[in-house]
Amino acid sequence: MSKIATLEIDGNKYEFPIIEGTEKELGIDIKTLRGVTGGVTTIDPGYKNTGSCVSGITFLDGEKGVLRYRGYSIEELAEKADFLEVAYLLIFGELPTAAELEKFDRDIKEESHVDEDMKKILDGFPKSAHPMGVLSSLTSALIAFNPGSVDVDSEEEMYNAIVKILAKFPVLAAWTMRKRKSLPLDYGDNSLGYVQNLHKMMFARPNKAYESNNLVYDALDKLLILHADHEQNCSTSTVRIVGSSHAGLFASLSAGMSALWGPLHGGANQAVIEMLEAIKEDGGDTAKYIAKAKDKNDPFRLMGFGHRVYKNFDPRAKIIKTSAEEILEDLGIEDPVLDIAKGLAKVALEDEYFIQRKLYPNVDFYSGIIYRALGIPTEMFTVMFALGRLPGWIAQWREMRLRKEPIGRPRQIYIGENIRPFVKVENR
Ligand code: SDX
Repeated sequence: MSKIATLEIDGNKYEFPIIEGTEKELGIDIKTLRGVTGGVTTIDPGYKNTGSCVSGITFLDGEKGVLRYRGYSIEELAEKADFLEVAYLLIFGELPTAAELEKFDRDIKEESHVDEDMKKILDGFPKSAHPMGVLSSLTSALIAFNPGSVDVDSEEEMYNAIVKILAKFPVLAAWTMRKRKSLPLDYGDNSLGYVQNLHKMMFARPNKAYESNNLVYDALDKLLILHADHEQNCSTSTVRIVGSSHAGLFASLSAGMSALWGPLHGGANQAVIEMLEAIKEDGGDTAKYIAKAKDKNDPFRLMGFGHRVYKNFDPRAKIIKTSAEEILEDLGIEDPVLDIAKGLAKVALEDEYFIQRKLYPNVDFYSGIIYRALGIPTEMFTVMFALGRLPGWIAQWREMRLRKEPIGRPRQIYIGENIRPFVKVENR
């Protein structure tokens, strides 16, 4: 027996079907609302209570701190899978067989060259340009060099565009980092795995033997998995809505990168480290900064804390915190900022203001500490988030296009002036 929601307006009753997801979530299907009510719409700033789609990719339970990609728990995937497997799982829905994974890896490697003229675009940016702005631009610029990746309707055309961007984006990310350091731009080494090649492209030096480090690769691989998808977050919703106009995959991803850049979203990982450094410089006075975060008259927020969905711990933050402690110990690094982060979290988690608002550390609170330990510059932290989120964005874009979702076009309630006659400038 399907559930029904009844709405009453001015004595008139309207019934709407309730859809139930595979994890028992309920959604009121209001597709017919404006039609049956003569134009009544809903209002929900920030879409805090509004579902934009049904999706089979990622499941979150914010109350229980649950995150699953295609039914697999994030804890298992972080422990047992590698990033390329998880990318395949998110995009195509199943963990790949050995043969499928080998073909996916081969097809990506086939596309790992980037047109040399792209370097001329990169050269046009000042070294001080933020890497997220550069990468969003370069991702959009890729369209000009891959015109066949725009009007992709068939699954085969989509697959070709998908392996192209999975191959070329890490190259562009490494180039963006190296450009800031005036280092030569290279393509890494296709004999390496996806994450190893990314690391080599970022860190290899022309006059020094490149040292591989499995501890570093494992930490990087785990971080990319933990960032790979997160259902309808701000940047993913951006990718979906841009893609719903049938703008190509690269254009949709470029828009998603711009959304991720914001400090309230993926830019928070950079903001967290800058906040922790400021607290360290200020003598480590965590109580002062907790008070600032609680003060409504102070714009300061505890970056890396709070989440729209998780009203309990963010399962990714738990894994990253443990990983941060392990990698620092393995690499023999003492980072006082980790102690400040742990001290800040301890105080906040015992403070009524944070408890009452269910504010917990999120994925961004500890990730920067690992990135620092891996030698990644602070301004590249959000790029690392984007490298992880790339397969999730692709999976969500592909699902939206294969389901032939309508163009995204929300409504509004107008609160401006009523009609009024034009007045000539001499009479104003
Ligand atoms: C990501 O959506 C996703 O899934 C995102 C993400 C992903 O994987 O894609 O998980 C990645 O973006 C994680 C979030 C990273 N951002 C930050 O760490 C920035 C700091 N956090 C906040 O700005 C905030 O918590 C948000 C943006 C994350 C969530 O904001 P909401 O859901 O709109 O909540 P809100 O701003 O309405 O806050 C509710 C209350 C308010 O107080 P009251 O007005 O009720 O008194 O909590 C307070 C807020 O002032 N609050 C904070 C706070 N976060 C919320 N107070 C101090 N410090 C904070 N960090």
